[in-house]
Amino acid sequence: MSTLTLLPAGLTVEVAAGASLLQAIITAGGKLAGKCGGDAQCGGCHVFVTEGRKGLTRLTPAENAKLDTLVGVSSKSRLACQVSFTGTEPVTVELLGALSG
Ligand code: FES
Repeated sequence: MSTLTLLPAGLTVEVAAGASLLQAIITAGGKLAGKCGGDAQCGGCHVFVTEGRKGLTRLTPAENAKLDTLVGVSSKSRLACQVSFTGTEPVTVELLGALSG
């Protein structure tokens, strides 16, 4: 098990190893504008992982390619639909802009 904390709202949920970050964000009460059904095509699930990056699976080529096309990307950027929890450490995610739940 791990925990997910959403910023700026401060919502926290328990998350099982292997669970999707996108699903965990929705379960915690966060809102994301993903529109492609989790195919790394729309970029609407872009979030910043501010703590616990090792608690998540590694960047995939598809995720990396899509992030290269987005504005406002940083070294903390991930596409929530492409990420799962490893269960090794707590994770904190910052939701972006008006969609921050
Ligand atoms: S839901 Fe579209 S890129 Fe993640």
